[in-house]
Amino acid sequence: MQYTNLEGQTLDSQYELVEFLGKGGMGAVYRAHQKKLKRDVAVKILIVNNLMDETHRRRFVREAETAASLEHPHIVPVYDFGTEQGMSYVVMRLLRGHSLAERMEQWDEGNIPHPSFEQIDDLLQPICKALDYAHNQGVIHRDIKPSNVMFDDYNNPFLVDFGLVKLVDTSRSVLTHSGLILGTPAYMSPEQWQDDELTPSIDQYALGVIAYALVTGVLPFDAENPYDLMHMHCYQVAPPAFSLRSDISVEVSNILSKVLAKKAADRFPSIREFAKAFRHAVYSSTGPIVVENQDTQGATITPSHEPVVIPRGAVRVDQSRDGQMTGRLMVMESFPFQIGRLNRDLNFDNDRNVSRNHAHITQNDQGEFFIADQGSTLRTSVDNQEIPPYTPVQLYHNAQICLGTTTFLTFLIENGS
Ligand SMILES: Nc1ncnc2c1ncn2[C@@H]1O[C@H](COP(=O)(O)OP(=O)(O)OP(=O)(O)O)[C@@H](O)[C@H]1O
Ligand SMILES: [Mg+2]
Repeated sequence: MQYTNLEGQTLDSQYELVEFLGKGGMGAVYRAHQKKLKRDVAVKILIVNNLMDETHRRRFVREAETAASLEHPHIVPVYDFGTEQGMSYVVMRLLRGHSLAERMEQWDEGNIPHPSFEQIDDLLQPICKALDYAHNQGVIHRDIKPSNVMFDDYNNPFLVDFGLVKLVDTSRSVLTHSGLILGTPAYMSPEQWQDDELTPSIDQYALGVIAYALVTGVLPFDAENPYDLMHMHCYQVAPPAFSLRSDISVEVSNILSKVLAKKAADRFPSIREFAKAFRHAVYSSTGPIVVENQDTQGATITPSHEPVVIPRGAVRVDQSRDGQMTGRLMVMESFPFQIGRLNRDLNFDNDRNVSRNHAHITQNDQGEFFIADQGSTLRTSVDNQEIPPYTPVQLYHNAQICLGTTTFLTFLIENGS
């Protein structure tokens, strides 16, 4: 397809297109200057069929409004959208870092070291949070792939192009009349190929392809043309990840196989569950902590074969008020480990008996753990003794923690006995 370079043009007397940044399947992106606010933004000019048609125009507006309504720290903000001279465009925050696609190329070429499992997990977790948020708002991305994960100057990942496929898509079919494929073949779920009903699980599948590629260094399916790829995505089973790299645990490998299941019902119920399982598998297989049993009664943490320098702690939720968190096991990655409601490390969003900032767990240089109540309304007890607020109390393996009156936790130390 031919693109006319639009550098120098101004859209709606507002956005002066300064520099062509690149193009993808759905349009071209420019660095633009927004005159009124004197700031640089990114403007994506879309190829939209039949925009003159009133139905499609209305649909464009509706979808663009949906994309613009998403507000999340890891979703690129959409500032504006419009149509001019038959062109539709979307204005978003300008991201000056690279895309994950470029970073993956650098890894492949050996220019930068390949990420560790922990680094892969660090990258996937915020993306999962962003997707989980969007799915809860009823929005599906539909085109998750490495070029739609971009970084800012501080290396924070952002999802870009939310729902844009829908802005361009004038039919439900992936293969349009002109033969253009909507979506990106290497990351497309069987249901997209088969024109089935699309659910948030298509984003989980596409993210699963990224995770597989990050972990193994290769895509699960690769073929010369989209038709062969379609066949593979719909009917072939990807080689288990552990068969491609000897240091991949069976647990990580199984998770990657599960997200790549052909049927949405066989994948994780939500992207959040995938994120949790992935984190758990990464830390239980590469770190010194091995979680043998997640059963609420029998959960134990046993040492790995590697020598342990600093012990690691975890909390198991034995009972939560509405039962939603019961059985969860959280390994502590950083301190203070915050327990409470709203974006805590251990988060009891629906549990009104837990205060927003209920208690913190810390670790000293000797590797000992302490819990301090943060002035919670219903207080904290350790082994049936209420502890005074803001006073650290040492925690031992198997300590029983009670938050308020209805939430019970067990504290676990690796190698604890
Ligand atoms: N918000 C942004 N800020 C800065 N640069 C961007 C932004 N969005 C996209 N780009 C740049 O524009 C290029 C083209 O993006 P575009 O989204 O059109 O391509 P793509 O992601 O490869 O394909 P697709 O059309 O399927 O999303 C990207 O490679 C990226 O470098
Ligand atoms: Mg893109």
